[in-house]
Amino acid sequence: MVEVATQHAQELNAKNVQIFHSSFDDIDLEDESVDVVLSNGAINLTSCKESVFSEIYRVLKPNGKLSFADMIDISIDEDSCSLVEKLSCCDAQEDWANCVAGTMRENELIEGIKAAGFYDVKCTGHTHYSTSDTTQGATFKAIKTPSDVLRKKHWESIFKRSDHTKVLWHQSSPKKSYELIENHHQDKANIIDVGCGASLLVDNLLENEDNTITLLDTSKSSLEIVKNRISNDKVKFICGDILNFTTEKKFDIWHDRAVFHFLLSKKEREQYFKVLDNVLESTGIAIISTFKEGGPTQCAGLDIVQYNNQKILEELPSQLSLIESEEYTHVTPQGNNQEYIYFVIKKTSFL
Ligand SMILES: C[S@@+](CC[C@H](N)C(=O)[O-])C[C@H]1O[C@@H](n2cnc3c(N)ncnc32)[C@H](O)[C@@H]1O
Repeated sequence: MVEVATQHAQELNAKNVQIFHSSFDDIDLEDESVDVVLSNGAINLTSCKESVFSEIYRVLKPNGKLSFADMIDISIDEDSCSLVEKLSCCDAQEDWANCVAGTMRENELIEGIKAAGFYDVKCTGHTHYSTSDTTQGATFKAIKTPSDVLRKKHWESIFKRSDHTKVLWHQSSPKKSYELIENHHQDKANIIDVGCGASLLVDNLLENEDNTITLLDTSKSSLEIVKNRISNDKVKFICGDILNFTTEKKFDIWHDRAVFHFLLSKKEREQYFKVLDNVLESTGIAIISTFKEGGPTQCAGLDIVQYNNQKILEELPSQLSLIESEEYTHVTPQGNNQEYIYFVIKKTSFL
């Protein structure tokens, strides 16, 4: 197929066409690099639709469009088997080639696309094309929800529906963060706690009356919890996403506990360090704590990236340097251990 398509492109002398061999659950394209994804009669040929839609989500730019035509399952029997059952019973190559084995019902497909992070998901029509008594052609379209919007929705629902003192990351005393901040900055400091949640760190930091503290979180509800707990004009609250954060202000200390590790794409991690570098004083320090390699693989129902010294060094841009790291065991409110690692980072020019 790749050879034939390449030949066609050459015959047309089409210079704006790139054809490459790739699996569509592992597309060889950068994150957020594509405006529109089109597909015709292909997605039903894969057994794992979830990874295909999440890969399409990854390569599309925010609000990028997905438009595809495919076969759907129109069998009358409402109790007909699910895709997983179908895959175990109809594994004959013929069923696959006829676009029968991998088909899903229209509503199942729509739900799967929404779950991958798309909005305005619609079946835009049915075609007269059919490959069996139980299949029919259909067209679909959807738009990629920007990742900051998904994050906000996810975290807002967590802080709205959970007791924040029972969530796994809760600490009754955030002593490791506090100790590292104290060790590296005894004087009056301008501190930002990014992805602060409802953490009690701010309460500790206010014990030093000279500190001024900015709390940034994507969840309004988490900030409300802190606002109801403390009333102090040395604390500024910002509801927003770290990756979009801009300010004229510079901070002596950037603190992040259990936030950076949620950034799964390279592009997002690059943007994180760009923001950090922009807002950190030239003599400032950044304290970032993540799950350690070998620690948990998920947090708050989301996948995370585990780190060790080597892995964080691979992420740091040249203007930022790792000066220290320390492993830390967090005991969850339920009494289980979670392995974290703290990184202390400085501007390279001020080492
Ligand atoms: C696991 S909790 C950690 C909360 C707090 N740092 C602590 O140690 O208790 C992650 C927090 O980061 C926030 N968050 C996640 N991604 C964010 C982003 N990109 N921008 C701003 N806040 C974010 C969430 O709303 C949540 O409050």
